[in-house]
Amino acid sequence: MFLLRKPILALSASTGVRDLLTRMPVTRSVVTRFVAGATTADAVGAVTRLRGDGLQVTLDHLGEDTTLREQADGTVTAYVELIRALDAAGLAVGAEVSVKLSAVGAALPRDEVPDGGEAYALAGARSITAAAYRAGARVTLDMEDHTTVDATLRTLAELRADQPDVGVAIQAMLRRTESDLKALVGNGSRVRLVKGAYNEPAEVAYADPAEVDLAYVRGLKTLMGGDGYPMVGSHDPRLIAIAQQLADRAGRGPRDYEHQMLYGIRPDEQRRLVSAGRTVRVYVPYGSDWYGYFTRRLAERPANLLFFLRSVATKG
Ligand code: FDA
Repeated sequence: MFLLRKPILALSASTGVRDLLTRMPVTRSVVTRFVAGATTADAVGAVTRLRGDGLQVTLDHLGEDTTLREQADGTVTAYVELIRALDAAGLAVGAEVSVKLSAVGAALPRDEVPDGGEAYALAGARSITAAAYRAGARVTLDMEDHTTVDATLRTLAELRADQPDVGVAIQAMLRRTESDLKALVGNGSRVRLVKGAYNEPAEVAYADPAEVDLAYVRGLKTLMGGDGYPMVGSHDPRLIAIAQQLADRAGRGPRDYEHQMLYGIRPDEQRRLVSAGRTVRVYVPYGSDWYGYFTRRLAERPANLLFFLRSVATKG
C-alpha cells in the first residue's frame, strides 16, 4: 500500500486532476471528514466541540503555494479574524494557529514582491503572531517540502526574537532533521515532530517507512531529552507508546509535552489519550482551499482513497 503514496502525491499535482476532483460533488462529502468547514464560524464551532471533550486545538486556514499577493494578504486577514472570533468566544487562550509560509507569501513570484517572498511571508506571519499572542494563543509554523526548510527556520528565528515559543514542525523523513533538531531543543522551544507528508527525492529523505519510523524515534529521543516542549505529531500507535516511555524516562509529566493528531483521524484515540490524562491537540483545518491538504491525507492512507473511490462509484 505504501507504494501508492508517491504516485498519488505526483498525480495530485496535476491541474487536470485537481479540476476534476474539486468539481465532483461527492468530493465535498468526503472532504468534510478531514476539514472542519469553510468559514470562521465553522472553525469556532469545531473548537467549541473539541474543547468540550478536553482536547486542545491548532487551527489551519487552508491554502498553500499562493502566487497572488491579494490571496496571501487574504490569508493573513483570515487568521486575524479567526483569532478575534476565538477571543470573542472565550476560546483563544491556550489555542494555537498553524501557518504555512507559502500561504502567506513565501512562494510569491519576484514580479509580485520585489523584496522576495520570504520577507513578505515574514511580515504576514508577524501580523498573525502579534494577533495570536495578544489574545493568549500561540503560533506554530507548518513545514512544507524540503526546499522550504531553510527559509522556514530563518523565519522561525525572526519570529522567536519577539515570541520565543513560536513552534515549528520538523519532518523525521528528511535526512537533515537530526542536525536541525539539535539546534531546536533549547529552553521553551516548541517543536512538532511529524513523519513528513511531501513527495521528496531519495537524496534528501528516507523512502522506506521503517527508516522513517527509526528516524522519528531518534528525533523523539532528542526532543524528550532536551529543554524544549515536544509536540508528538503522529497517529502511529507504536510511536505514541514510545513517546510516552521516553517522556516518562526523561521525567516529563503530561504538561511537559503533548500529542497532536489531525482532525477526523483516530478521534477515539484522541479522546482515549485525554482520559488517560495526556495533553492532546487536534490540528483543525478549515477554509475552501482544501485540495492540497486532502490529497496528502489520501496519499498517507490508500484506504482513504478506496473509500473516496467507492463513494464516487456509488453516488456518481
Ligand atoms: P502513519 O501514516 O504511519 O499512520 C499511522 C496510523 O494512523 C495509520 O495506520 C492510521 O490508523 C492512522 N492514519 C494516519 N494517517 C491517516 C489518514 N490520512 N487517514 C486515516 N488514518 C490515518 N506533515 C508535514 O510534512 N508538515 C507539517 O507541518 C505537518 N503537520 C502535521 C500536524 C499534525 C498535528 C499531524 C498529526 C501531522 C502533520 N503532518 C505534517 C503530517 C505527517 O507528516 C504525516 O504525514 C501524518 O501524520 C501521517 O503519519 P503518522 O505519523 O500519523 O503515521
